[in-house]
Amino acid sequence: MAGRDQGSAEANSKHPIPPGFENAVVTPDAYKAMYAASMSDPEAFWGEQGKRIDWITPYTKVKNTNFNFGEVSIKWFEDGVLNVAANCIDRHLPTRGDQVAIIWEPDDPSTPAKHITYNELHEKVCRMANVLLSQGVMRGDRVVIYLPMIPEAAYAMLACARIGAIHSIVFAGFSPDALANRINDSDAKLVITADSAPRGGRRTPLKANTDAALLHCKDKVRCLVVKHTGDQTSWVDGRDVDVLALMETAAPDCPVRPMGAEDPLFILYTSGSTGKPKGVVHTSGGYLVYASMTHQMTFDYKDGDVFWCTADVGWVTGHSYIIYGPLANGATTLMFEGVPTYPDAGRFWAVCEKHKVNQFYTAPTAIRALMGQGPEWVEKHDLSSLRVLGSVGEPINPEAWVWYDKYVGKGKCPIVDTFWQTETGGHMITSLPGAIETKPGAATLPFFGVKPAVLTAEGGQLVEGNGVEGVLCIADSWPGQMRTVWGDHERFQQTYFEQYKGYYFTGDGCRRDEDGYYWITGRVDDVINVSGHRMGTAEVESALVAHAKVAEAAVVGYPHEIKGQGIYAYVTLMNDVEPTEELRKELVKWVRTEIGPIASPDLIQWAPGLPKTRSGKIMRRILRKIAENDFGALGDTSTLADPSVVDDLIDNRMNRG
Ligand code: PRX
Repeated sequence: MAGRDQGSAEANSKHPIPPGFENAVVTPDAYKAMYAASMSDPEAFWGEQGKRIDWITPYTKVKNTNFNFGEVSIKWFEDGVLNVAANCIDRHLPTRGDQVAIIWEPDDPSTPAKHITYNELHEKVCRMANVLLSQGVMRGDRVVIYLPMIPEAAYAMLACARIGAIHSIVFAGFSPDALANRINDSDAKLVITADSAPRGGRRTPLKANTDAALLHCKDKVRCLVVKHTGDQTSWVDGRDVDVLALMETAAPDCPVRPMGAEDPLFILYTSGSTGKPKGVVHTSGGYLVYASMTHQMTFDYKDGDVFWCTADVGWVTGHSYIIYGPLANGATTLMFEGVPTYPDAGRFWAVCEKHKVNQFYTAPTAIRALMGQGPEWVEKHDLSSLRVLGSVGEPINPEAWVWYDKYVGKGKCPIVDTFWQTETGGHMITSLPGAIETKPGAATLPFFGVKPAVLTAEGGQLVEGNGVEGVLCIADSWPGQMRTVWGDHERFQQTYFEQYKGYYFTGDGCRRDEDGYYWITGRVDDVINVSGHRMGTAEVESALVAHAKVAEAAVVGYPHEIKGQGIYAYVTLMNDVEPTEELRKELVKWVRTEIGPIASPDLIQWAPGLPKTRSGKIMRRILRKIAENDFGALGDTSTLADPSVVDDLIDNRMNRG
């Protein structure tokens, strides 16, 4: 991690809560009291918090959860009946029908922004829901959404929720193959896409990608197309449907379908240390309670504030903090189609100024990239509306934290560094603006109901006290927790509950400092975090070995100035293949097409041999060290089948920084 220096005095000193947060949603005393209550009687605590959303039939049972390997089962509010879309839209109509629900800021700043009120949102979502019904989508059916960051993405999500269909969003940066895998794994009935996705002045041909993906899917999968840019696309009669045209003639009202609290709301595929990405399943009641509560408390969201989360709805951050959390709270949420550096490095700040954003939530990789462009891009804009700044997706290095605080927050905005995961549904460890003092680089303290446990990596002994380090587990369930892996409950148990019995294992390492603050130190498994995007090294490896000229590949992460981690691939070519610069480029392109641009290897090293144990296991520890340019401390290499391969890899290493 660039510039990471946790031991420095700066990083360890607490930043006090700035003035103006005396009436925060959560105050220091309230934090202590509520946290204690959530630990001593979770049943009573969540029984009360569950009332923050509207129930068609109130729950009588609150918590029914079991973390024992072999018996893992997670249910919250299980006999309650609700509808998520009704909570995000309908219940606000009497009081805030004319309030803006979604501000849409397009990629091109010369295109006018859209301001969609709750009344308009209601109408659009109903029309879209009626279109889905007319296409035969029923309760429990899966709908894949492969859209740019346009209001129709929000309409599609909420339309599914309204009729009880389960959405699965695929990030628009993923390739046709990745899309096809997700359509097939979820057995989706239809996919909603757009002609093309403008981003940073360039366009991704989403419809053409979908056409390519559908060649590998069942014939009956329908394709709803949002004509967004007007770009020409091919059209398959009987399969492709112009969704905007149908919405115009569809009825503007659609009754909500009552859903059980534990009925799935969405599936979101995410990478793990082994195998194909898994479908993380989130259900309706607990997820919504948790998303709305964390949104309100972590960002100190107050009525009338404009909230901006810069994530894409293709990631969990977009689900919980662009759509479900804010809309459940009746907030005004901003949806941005573009990128931080288009048309220039001041775009984020121009958007904050233009829409008078109060809470701004982004990823460290974006902060580092903008930091590199100099503070003048920030200083050009009036950022006086900002009150709270957020960070998510990867550890934030203190240098970036301090810059964010000084230039963007002008020392007046608390920074909430929110640690959480696709699996957790919402924030797990985070500061709260008016309640918890911050330290640059620390996620700080657990959210209500979250019981962190630091365990020794080997042996899984519970480590008590402060000033300790280990792997991060969670000792008991919280309502936003994922319930299962789609179609594979065994994999769910094995991934999260097998290694450390009785605990949920996050896959992250952490340190608990002398003040009891948590510092996330990064993944301890074969997952890497590239620009805040999670990537399984195994996925990149299997893409590489699918190339005819590649015999073997091993992929690891290495520290990258901007991206946090970069992708370093060791590639062994087939016997008679010459390693050339062209081939290197071809392999990068190959991975982009197999998975998507986010998986492009940054460095490819030709490896005549890989370090393996006598039983043939690749020793990744050594490969990681060489990729980090830290080969002085390779540790024990005596168990290698052929220790000489290591010298060759060191001599030809690609990272000499
Ligand atoms: O390693 C942690 C890192 O991102 C992983 C989760 O990735 P994903 O499921 O894609 O969700 C990202 C957005 C919630 C975690 O296992 N991570 C996320 N937030 C932080 C973080 N690491 C350190 N600090 C954070 N604030």
